[in-house]
Amino acid sequence: MRTQVVIIGGGPSGLLLSQLLLKAGVETIVLERKTREYVLARIRAGILEQGMVNLLREADVADRLDREGFVHDGTLIASDNDTFRIDFAKSVGVPVVVYGQTEVTRDLYNAREATGGETVFEADDVCLHDVKSDAPYVTFRKDGRDQRIDCDYIAGCDGFHGVSRETIPKDVRQEFEKVYPFGWLGVLSETPPVDDELIYANSERGFALCSMRNANLSRYYVQCPLTDRVEDWSDDAFWEELKRRIPEKAADTLITGPTIEKSIAPLRSFVTEPMQWGRLFLCGDAAHIVPPTGAKGLNTAASDVHYLYHALKDHYLDNSDKGIETYSTRALARVWKAERFSWWMTNLLHRFPEQSGFDRRMQQADLAFLRDNEAAQQAMAENYVGLPY
Ligand code: APR
Ligand code: PHB
Repeated sequence: MRTQVVIIGGGPSGLLLSQLLLKAGVETIVLERKTREYVLARIRAGILEQGMVNLLREADVADRLDREGFVHDGTLIASDNDTFRIDFAKSVGVPVVVYGQTEVTRDLYNAREATGGETVFEADDVCLHDVKSDAPYVTFRKDGRDQRIDCDYIAGCDGFHGVSRETIPKDVRQEFEKVYPFGWLGVLSETPPVDDELIYANSERGFALCSMRNANLSRYYVQCPLTDRVEDWSDDAFWEELKRRIPEKAADTLITGPTIEKSIAPLRSFVTEPMQWGRLFLCGDAAHIVPPTGAKGLNTAASDVHYLYHALKDHYLDNSDKGIETYSTRALARVWKAERFSWWMTNLLHRFPEQSGFDRRMQQADLAFLRDNEAAQQAMAENYVGLPY
């Protein structure tokens, strides 16, 4: 087989890139290790920056998002019983959109099917070859048969546990990592959200987040020790703990019910540099991870896709390689800002095991400054709705 760009990974990064390239007339094949059903069963975050919404519109996959997404003009921050609002509309004039990543992925798969784009599911043992040469290729096994695709470029969109990053030699790669000493226990429940907007809560008992997917589907999280196991958390125990961490008014009106999903995710900051090696480009979780506190994971993947899409389009359509040569530098400049914001929000809102009295006062002062200072609110809003591409 031969194609112009092989895309490894059929998560949101790989699928969005493939749709944009298809529209521009650039041929791709997507190789995904799992089945479509498996990918669509993963519950992930649900806040889209305007830049990502625009990119989905450009890829012609935003019809349902435009119909069903909820526009949010602000978010609530609670520090024990003191709640204040960050007003995105007033501070920066740009909202965010609440729409689940799982739905984004479903829309992308439907669009890919409708346009006849090629996706190989259950592609085993994907391996990248001759990435530093002008003639790279990818091998894999499908239904027990070995296959090979020759190509011009490879997009490594295969997430944190993929093979693409590991293809870059260790002496070329520099990795930066911070692992946080807690996780998030998250539940999905078919109940109305407790508030019209998200509530990020810093409480003595640890962080909590009230989020949503739609008018009758809520997503809630509580910070938990990494040693906790999902089986040990009954629904009742979860609701009780959540109520203790959110403002009294919200706790009193919270509607609880059976949970339809419950999972624990560790929190990590991670960046690999560079994001390009020869004809391989890393995109999304393959290159970086953020803790979910700033809702930046999917959105940062989208900005990588934006830079890579334009780089490849300029190469094929305008004969210009400037975008290709600068991809890593441009993508990383924005990635690091999203890393900083996610790290800052995580530090601001969580209870750390070794936190001293001084550390706690710093957190409280940081929160009070944000509550009282318009410039600080503007900086927070600018980052939350997404820095420009
Ligand atoms: N071969 C083929 N596919 C692979 C391989 C492999 N060796 N390894 C992983 N994959 C697939 C995974 O099964 C997954 O479907 O690559 C895909 C990567 O998808 P994601 O992990 O969702 O990463 P990405 O598309 O970059 O999306 C970033 O996802 O994890 C969240 O917070 C993150 O919201 C962000 C978004
Ligand atoms: C979610 O709805 O899952 C969500 C929202 C905001 C975050 C993280 C997760 O910061």
